[in-house]
Amino acid sequence: MTHPKLHQIHEIAAAAGLDAIALVPGANLHYLTGIDFHLMERPLVVFFVLGRDPVAVVPSLEEARLAACGIPMTLFPWSDSEGFGAAFAAAAALRLRGKRVGVEELRMRVLEATLLDEYLLGAALVPAGQALAALRLRKDADAVRALREAIAISEAALEHLLGQVRPGMTEREVAGLLTVAQLERGGGKHPFEPIALAGPNSALPHGEPGERRLATGEPLLLDFGTTARGYASDITRTFSVGEPSPRLVEVYEVVRAANEAGRAAAGPGVPAQDVDRAARRVIEDTGFGPYFTHRTGHGLGMEAHEGPNIVEGNAQVLEPGMVFTVEPGIYLPGEVGVRIEDDLLITPDGAESLTTFLRDLRIIGA
Ligand code: GLY
Ligand code: MN
Repeated sequence: MTHPKLHQIHEIAAAAGLDAIALVPGANLHYLTGIDFHLMERPLVVFFVLGRDPVAVVPSLEEARLAACGIPMTLFPWSDSEGFGAAFAAAAALRLRGKRVGVEELRMRVLEATLLDEYLLGAALVPAGQALAALRLRKDADAVRALREAIAISEAALEHLLGQVRPGMTEREVAGLLTVAQLERGGGKHPFEPIALAGPNSALPHGEPGERRLATGEPLLLDFGTTARGYASDITRTFSVGEPSPRLVEVYEVVRAANEAGRAAAGPGVPAQDVDRAARRVIEDTGFGPYFTHRTGHGLGMEAHEGPNIVEGNAQVLEPGMVFTVEPGIYLPGEVGVRIEDDLLITPDGAESLTTFLRDLRIIGA
């Protein structure tokens, strides 16, 4: 019997009219092989070819790991001293020349694309990122358990952090404490660097923690996550350091209501864009629409950003097992930013917020 994950990727290739799919290190290859290879200067490409076992060009230092992944493969290892040309030529000879080969357009680099062009002679490289999203779109029970574990670690770490933060600390110090708190609770790799933004910096949706110090009456926005067994949490909460300013309270209440409306709109059979519309309407109705400068959310799993996209224009219907964020925000430049982000699981009869951390405006560091 074919390995179930091989069966999944073969079905995707067949449905997309592809002869093969070439993957480089990243979440798709991690999902299929169970190994989180690094995307580095040494090319590693696994060709999932219809009608035969996969064929891999692999740096010899990674050969043993790939050989033990549980999927039978024909391996073409190459060493640093030999270089990779002969390995690509040998792999290409196995029914790949001149074929339609799907690639991950957001992942494959010019390095691998050039090698494929050179050795797969006449093969058409076809963007297959959308088709491949189906691999990981509906989470099974084990994946949902891992997501719950990651979220539990992040939420416990956040609670611990809030007991430590004080006015005068820098954003970088806060981000560092959060990192340690997650690691101490068993968190794995960061899916992205933690965001800790104080005062007017909170109006930069993906700002970088720096030397700004927490000050009384100002917001602190925290957006962070960890991983458990390869699955990521992603949570944002915004706090008030000491008593909040009237402006922070005003903006916060609108975002809180938008987050609630987005979560309430989610369920099986609902187009993804309807969740975006529900959250956005609340913000637009208060006149803050121009300051909500991103989509309402994104899928979450082995990557912090994957399908489904919760955005206007995405009519994709939500299905049980899909997991995504609902994270409306209002960003008033130079003044204040608020975002409240939850991780939702679509269930057979609704949506469950896997994140449960308090959403009311909380005063910290007092
Ligand atoms: N944090 C918002 C986004 O990346 O869509
Ligand atoms: Mn997010």
